[in-house]
Parts: sequence; C-alpha cells; structure tokens
Amino acid sequence: MDLIIKNGMIVTPTDMYEADVGIKGEKIVAIGKELSGSKVIDAKDMMIFPGFIDVHTHIETPFMGTYSSDTWETGTKAAAFGGTTCIVDFAIQSKGGTLRAALDEWNKRATGNAYIDYGFHMAMIDINDSSLNEMETMIMEEGISSFKLFFAYKGELMVDDDAFYKALEKAEELGGLIMIHAENGHIIDLYTKNLLVENKTEPMYHAVSRPSIMEGEACQRAIALAELAEAPLYIVHNSCLEAVEAIHEGRERGLPIYGETCPQYLTLDEERYTDPGFEGAKYVISPPLRSEFDQDALWFAIERGDLQVISTNHCPFFFRKQKERGKDNFAKIPNGIPGIETRMAVMYTAGVLEDWITINRFVELNSTNPAKLFGMFPQKGTIAIGSDADIVIFDPEKEVTINSKNLHQNTDYTPWEGMIVKGYPITVISRGKVIVDKGNLKGEKGWGKFIKRDRFYPL
Ligand code: URP
Ligand code: ZN
Repeated sequence: MDLIIKNGMIVTPTDMYEADVGIKGEKIVAIGKELSGSKVIDAKDMMIFPGFIDVHTHIETPFMGTYSSDTWETGTKAAAFGGTTCIVDFAIQSKGGTLRAALDEWNKRATGNAYIDYGFHMAMIDINDSSLNEMETMIMEEGISSFKLFFAYKGELMVDDDAFYKALEKAEELGGLIMIHAENGHIIDLYTKNLLVENKTEPMYHAVSRPSIMEGEACQRAIALAELAEAPLYIVHNSCLEAVEAIHEGRERGLPIYGETCPQYLTLDEERYTDPGFEGAKYVISPPLRSEFDQDALWFAIERGDLQVISTNHCPFFFRKQKERGKDNFAKIPNGIPGIETRMAVMYTAGVLEDWITINRFVELNSTNPAKLFGMFPQKGTIAIGSDADIVIFDPEKEVTINSKNLHQNTDYTPWEGMIVKGYPITVISRGKVIVDKGNLKGEKGWGKFIKRDRFYPL
C-alpha cells in the first residue's frame, strides 16, 4: 500500500472505532489493525473523517453587478485547509442562454485551477422548452443531476411557479433533483421599494425586507408544487422556524422533501445588522440572519432529521471593495459571506461540543448525506474499501481563534472573527494525495477533478 494512516479513530455516521486505513493510488484498499505500507502517518489521538463535502458554493460567480471574490484556485485551496475535499458549485444559466453555455463558462474557470474535486449544479433562470430539454443531457451525459431555481431576486434570477413546476416534472421524469431558494421575490421587491422611499437604507433593512414568514410561505409553496408534480425537492439554506416547520409537515406526510442549513444560521443572529457604521453589511446574505429562537428551531430540525445537510453557501465579497457598493442602499450590497474554510471547525465546536449533534451525525450532515443526495456515494462521503481516499485527520483538542488574516479565503473578513474553536483539520488527503500536511499546503492547483454525479436516489 502507498499510504497508511495509523492509530486514528475512524468516524462514519454509524461507527467510531480505532483502526488503520490503507490507501493505494487514489482509493482506500484496507481498514484494519497493524497495516503496513511505504508511507505512514501516525494519527494517534486524532479523528479520521471522510473528506467533507460542501454542496453549496458560489466560486467566482457573477452576482449583483460584481463577482464573488474567491477564484477556483483560492476558494478550493481554502476549502482544503478547512477539511473539505469536494464542492458542488452552481453554474448559472444566463437570461436567453443555454445550460450548455453556462456549463462551458464554469468549466473554463474551474478546469486546471482546483485543489479539490468538484461538481456542478445547474442554476436555471430561463425555463423554456429548450432549457428543459437540455436537462436530459445534463443528467445523462454531463453528470449534473441537480438544478437550482430561485423564488427570490425578482427581475434577475427569479422564476414563476409555472416554470418551477415544469422543471420539477422534468426532473422527476429524468431522475434529477430540484433545489429551491425559497423566499418570496415579489414581497421582497415591494418591501425594499417601500423601505427606500422612507430613506431606510442601512444594512439592517436588508433583514426587514425579507420576513421569515415569507420564507415559510415560499417553502410551503415549493413543497405543494413538488407534491403536485410528484417530485423530490431539496430546499437550500433554510434560516428560520417557518421554513423547517413547512419541511417537517411535508416529511410527516411522507413527501421526499430534503433541506440544508448553514453555519451562519446556526451560530450568528440578526443582532449583527446593528453593528456600528456599515459593519452590518458583512452579514448581508439571503435569507438574512434570523433570531436566536430560529437558531434553536434549526438545531431541532437537524435533530429530528428534517434537515439532512450542512453546507456553507460560500459566496464571499470584500467588505472594502465590494460590500461598499451598497453604502447608500442596502439593496445594492452583494449578498453573501465566506464560510468554505471555517465550516468544520465552527460546526464541531457549536454542534458537537455543545451537544446539539453527535460526532456521527456531524459526519452524516457534512459528508455522507451530501454525497448520497447528490449522487456521489459511495465514491465519496464514507471511509470504506473502494471509496476515494478523501480523508480528514482532525485534532479534536486543537484550539484556534478564528482570524481572517490566517485564512486562505480571498476576502478581507470572516463572520466568525475572534471565535475560539476547538477541533481543527490538521491533515487533508484528496484521492490518496496529501494536500494539507499539518497545516501546510502540499496540494497543487489542477489536482482537483470534475466529478460526474449519478442520478438522484432518495435518502
Ligand atoms: O446571500 C446569498 N445567499 N448569496 C448567494 C446567492 C444565493 O442566493 O444563494
Ligand atoms: Zn440561494
């Protein structure tokens, strides 16, 4: 064997046991005691996790008049340092454009630049016969089996209910999965206009313009349309009680409804919007941060199994150069925050150490379920013989004070600045290759390859 990870504690959604992991080439080939091979990593006192998977990123993405600030090089490098070995990013169709053109554009940016493996979802904003027909090629030939639609960003990305319904029907026929950004773009647009007329321009009004009740409404509507189309549905970045109540109700009735939330909604709250000066702009995301009460509702939804995935919605912008575009108008602040590098440390600290989730559930939410729901399991998402050797050696005792200056994300702040986390990825292996070794970069850009994903299978 080429590489043995010795004496670590292997953790999967169902097990936790001490054993060695043997790697040959890009695959795990043995799990057992006293394995030997040409190179050995001693992982005594360390946790051995399957590489974490982030199924919601926006790398180098044109959005709100600018581009998210991580390139494929910087974003995937930051992901690697944070213990993420695979991302699924959103290729976004343009108005009047084809899915093929979006795929070509994203391929051009990603190819040769990624440190870790990646796939694409297709974000569909122009639903017509031709784009609906293209879904078949995406799923059957290109390995792109999930499609995001937006009920927000009126006049830009938003689709109407009939378009959403058509996409659901098509996805169901082909074995695809529709993902929805569930807010109500019409009401957001109305509220935004009213607030601006009243000269309410500060970042805090971003949150006022996007009431949680309308996130709940959009979830209910999306679920009803999915039920009508008899299609599975995945609701992205849930932020509030109303959203998870809608998901719970649908799942109780046996519908194949799935949902994710993100570290920001579990650990930060709306008080951030009242930070002095323009600082609140750092947290302008959609949906917005909510209350502490909503945070608890999200943790309970995770506990109950109503939410199956934690992703980041990593969509970074520079505070100085980019967020400031909305200095006089909150509606012009590019929506998004960085999070690709801090997810595992923040979720281990706030989730496992605070007893919201077990360590097995931590792996399930951040690696195994994303792999299963998005057609990558068992190639990814587990430590098993035959799986890709994507492995995170994690020190559960290591304490780090999060500081944007020490992170690799291409932006000038982190929303978790100053947070003391306990538990940090130390060594990260991607398909058998050590890409981060005790905190030092060993990987190379271009190592990461495109992963063709399988069709959707229910969890
Ligand atoms: O604030 C956000 N969510 N930015 C990224 C775009 C999206 O809606 O996911
Ligand atoms: Zn979204």
